[in-house]
Amino acid sequence: MSEVKRIAVLCSGGDSPGMNCAIRAVVRTGIGAGLEVFGIQKGYAGLLEGNIRALDVSSVGNILQHGGTILQTSRCPEFMTAEGRKEAANLLKRKKIDALIVIGGDGSFNGAMALYNEHQIPVVGIPGTIDNDIDGTDYTIGFDTAVQNAVEAVDKIRDTANSHARTFIVEVMGRKSPAIALKVGICTGAENVILPTATIDYGKIVGDIDRGIKRGKTSSILIAAEGEVEGVGHTIQKELKEKFNLQAHVCILGHIQRGGNPTPTDRLIASQMGHQAVKALVSGEFASATVFRNGKVVIANLKDCLRKKNEFDVSDVELLTLLSI
Ligand code: F6P
Repeated sequence: MSEVKRIAVLCSGGDSPGMNCAIRAVVRTGIGAGLEVFGIQKGYAGLLEGNIRALDVSSVGNILQHGGTILQTSRCPEFMTAEGRKEAANLLKRKKIDALIVIGGDGSFNGAMALYNEHQIPVVGIPGTIDNDIDGTDYTIGFDTAVQNAVEAVDKIRDTANSHARTFIVEVMGRKSPAIALKVGICTGAENVILPTATIDYGKIVGDIDRGIKRGKTSSILIAAEGEVEGVGHTIQKELKEKFNLQAHVCILGHIQRGGNPTPTDRLIASQMGHQAVKALVSGEFASATVFRNGKVVIANLKDCLRKKNEFDVSDVELLTLLSI
C-alpha cells in the first residue's frame, strides 16, 4: 500500500462531547507531519454526497471546549451496504484521499472495517460514544461528560425529591450498555439501579424503598438504563403503581446527557486519540483503532474493537446496594 499523504476525518453515529478535541488533534498532528487533512461533513452520509473540505490549523481553532462536533454526524444505513461502501471508496479515490479516520461507535467501526476489507482504504477508528461500550478499549470519548451531566441532574432531582418525600425513576442513556447507569447510580447514592440486561425485581425495589422510609429516608432514586427504546421509566412507574400502589415520578434525562462542554478527561483522552490516530496512519497501521488500556492511549487492531460490550463489574452493583442501605 502506498504512502499516506492526504487523510480525511469524519464523525459517525451519535455525537459525543470531546469529538471536537479529537478532530483538532487529527488536523494539527496531520499538518505537523506534512499531510493534507480533509474534514467530511455529516459522517458517512456526507462522504457519499462528497461533502468534503480541506481543514487547516485555523479551522479547528477555538473548538476543543465545545460539545457536539464541527463536522456534524449522522447514522447512515446506505453505508452499511456493500454498494454504498463501493461508492464511498470510489469517491475517496477520485478525491485522492489516501486514508480515513472515523470517530464513532461500534457500528461506525464495522463500516470502517468493511471499507478496508473490501476496498483496502486505510482506516483508523477513534472510539467516540457516550455509552462506553466498545470492545477492546476501556474508555470511549464522551462518557465522562455524559456521566457528569447526568450526576448534576440527579443531584438536582434529589433536592426536590427530598423536599416532597418522593420516589423518582431517572432514566439515563446507554441503550444496552450498563456503563452510564451504573456509574451515575454509585455517584448519586441511588437506592437502586436497573441495568438493561437484568430482569426487574419489583419486590426488591419496593422493599428497599420501604426499608429506607422506616429508617428516616426522605427520598428514593432509581436509576434506569434506557435499554433499546427510550421510555422504560414509564413502564417501571406503571408496574410500581399497579402492583404495589407506589407512586413514583419519572424523569428521562435524554439528549441533555450528550451535550455541553467536554470534561478535562474527555478533552485529554480525545486529544491523545486524535494524535495517535494520525501516527498510526503515518507508521502504516492501516486497519487500526486508538484505544485506552491500562490508563494509556495506544494503537490496537480495529478488528478487536468491532463488538458492542455490555459487561459490567458485579462488584459495582454490590457496592451501590451496600452503600445505599
Ligand atoms: O450515541 C449513543 C446514544 O446516545 C445512546 O445512548 C442512545 O440510546 C442513542 O445514542 C440515541 O440515539 P439518537 O440520538 O439517534 O436518538
